[in-house]
Amino acid sequence: MIQKYSWGDPIATDAILSDIPTSSGSPAFGQIDAADGFRYSYALDPDDIVFGLGEANRGINKRGFLYTSFCTDDPIHTEEKVSLYGAHNLIIVSGKENFGLFFDYPGALTFDIGYSHMDNMEIRCEDADLDLYVITGEDAYDITRQFRRMIGKSYIPPRFAFGYGQSRWGYKTREDFETVVSRYREHHIPLDLLYMDIDYMDDYKDFTVNTENFPDFEAFTAQMKKQGIHLIPIIDAGVKIEEGYDVYEEGIAGGYFCRQENGEPFEACVWPGLTHLPDFLDPEARKWFGSRYKRLLDAGIEGFWNDMNEPAIFYSPKGRDDLLSYLDGYGDEKNAFDHEELHARVHGLTNSPKDYRDFYHDVNGKKIRHDKVHNLYGSNMTRAASEAFARYAPDKRILMFSRSSYIGMHRYGGIWMGDNRSWWSHLLLNLKMLPSLNMCGFLYIGADLGGFGADTTEDLLLRWLALGVFTPLMRNHSALGTREQECYRFDHIEDFRHIISIRYRLIPYLYSEYLKAAQNDDMYFKPLAFVYPEDRSARRVEDQLMLGNEIMIAPVYTQNAVGRYVYLPEEMKFIKFLPDGRLYEEILEKGHHFVEIALNEVPLFIRKDKKIPLVDPAEYVSALDMDTLTFIGYTDAVYELADTENSDDD
Ligand code: NOJ
Repeated sequence: MIQKYSWGDPIATDAILSDIPTSSGSPAFGQIDAADGFRYSYALDPDDIVFGLGEANRGINKRGFLYTSFCTDDPIHTEEKVSLYGAHNLIIVSGKENFGLFFDYPGALTFDIGYSHMDNMEIRCEDADLDLYVITGEDAYDITRQFRRMIGKSYIPPRFAFGYGQSRWGYKTREDFETVVSRYREHHIPLDLLYMDIDYMDDYKDFTVNTENFPDFEAFTAQMKKQGIHLIPIIDAGVKIEEGYDVYEEGIAGGYFCRQENGEPFEACVWPGLTHLPDFLDPEARKWFGSRYKRLLDAGIEGFWNDMNEPAIFYSPKGRDDLLSYLDGYGDEKNAFDHEELHARVHGLTNSPKDYRDFYHDVNGKKIRHDKVHNLYGSNMTRAASEAFARYAPDKRILMFSRSSYIGMHRYGGIWMGDNRSWWSHLLLNLKMLPSLNMCGFLYIGADLGGFGADTTEDLLLRWLALGVFTPLMRNHSALGTREQECYRFDHIEDFRHIISIRYRLIPYLYSEYLKAAQNDDMYFKPLAFVYPEDRSARRVEDQLMLGNEIMIAPVYTQNAVGRYVYLPEEMKFIKFLPDGRLYEEILEKGHHFVEIALNEVPLFIRKDKKIPLVDPAEYVSALDMDTLTFIGYTDAVYELADTENSDDD
């Protein structure tokens, strides 16, 4: 059952598609104080687990920390960080009482889940203008399914988007890209997607391609496609301010950019230098920006990643001038050195709350200050693209994923988890976000395998890929200046070929389970707690996941390990794809086990009386022979592939 409660004058976010009447009175669970701002509080039972929050720090069980939904470009995801790139305001309390809460509020919202007081949860925001949906059900899984039905169907990518992708910030010329492809092909490591980071553009100007580096871009995309490669360019939120640049000029002429109080377009410094920020919350501006993707679609592009759309702001001219005038007097006789203040001012320049209060959106004729709707910005950028794809390529699935998001955006695209680092702890953090994101509708998800920031190691990349084998988005991406981490750069190239080939062998199963999850408002990844709610041990497992209806995954996430402990809530068949092409199979009883997993092995566990299909590997998705399936697991079982009628097999 779902009940809706409203306070004040909520801003429409379009997260919820179902029409749910507003209830009078107050929710059955917790207390509300809407006198000065908004506060929801609930006394937690010692045994309660709190699930949710999508892309957020810490565990699958969110209990014991503080989280603020405020989409943030912060590349250092250490344990104390309260905000990442997304704002996914769903939590589910599972224990003494079972209920879900969705706070539909697009500004900053804080979830204090047993942080200030271990046994209390408090959710608060500045303005008492919001809708709260309270969902009751049998258990966390049932509540999630009801929520998913409210928010509409999840995005489905083309099948090629289940191929392996290589990316790196720094590829610049046609030759750079061709080298990557030829090295992959030469070593027979499968590859379908090649991501183009900001250097393909002309001076980081959206929807341009540097003509010196790509004299005939269309011919280039066609030549790549012939080799089974799809090029996926990045699009940034900020539009460079430059006379003569058509996107800038159209934006000015149409009045499509966010404005300051005085009506002048707001200026933000990002990669291209000074930019204006398109007002994606204005349907006209959205339509205009979306129409610009057509230029690249026409050149043969079939997918995009939308970046810097929190929006990330390195600094605003106003912030820069304030800092410069502070620095002018810094350290002279009258002003003693104050390192702390200096540090705060320099770092405070980037993504400054002040800047977010300095510009406005036009939401259906109503002027709204940015910070009040901050969490909708990236979502609406991706919506702009998706609505344009429906106009220009209605019969085709276009790959689309974004960095920033709000619930509702799951209908338009997927997300990647932003700038993680080459840390073992991030492999585990990555795993923990997967089911939480699925709860919020985001199914096409993945992290930068190998780690984006810092230098990776061969073993970290191999272990991360062994998790990536199962994530819908399987992409190796890294930052400028870090160790190069394309698979062919390491000693044991055959191990990379083997691990990535396993992904391709599993594509019929993985894509089928993805389609089923999307078609049935279901989860692709689930915490064990959702499948075995009565099993007290399973309820607390944070490093294994259920995938689809047949398998459990348990990647290795510590360095120098020869295996790991797993908990099996029921009998399962333990399978390892061995590097010599053979399968290792062993039936393991319910309970705790130590399983050995070498660096070049991919483990999975098939649930009792289930089986899954495999195909022979190929070097790209469209070369897979999808009609010749073999099965592994409990082979007397029945497995049905999803209805692929409206999927793009290209
Ligand atoms: C930030 C993104 O998160 C990262 O993936 C990308 O490489 C850089 N921007 C440069 O475009």
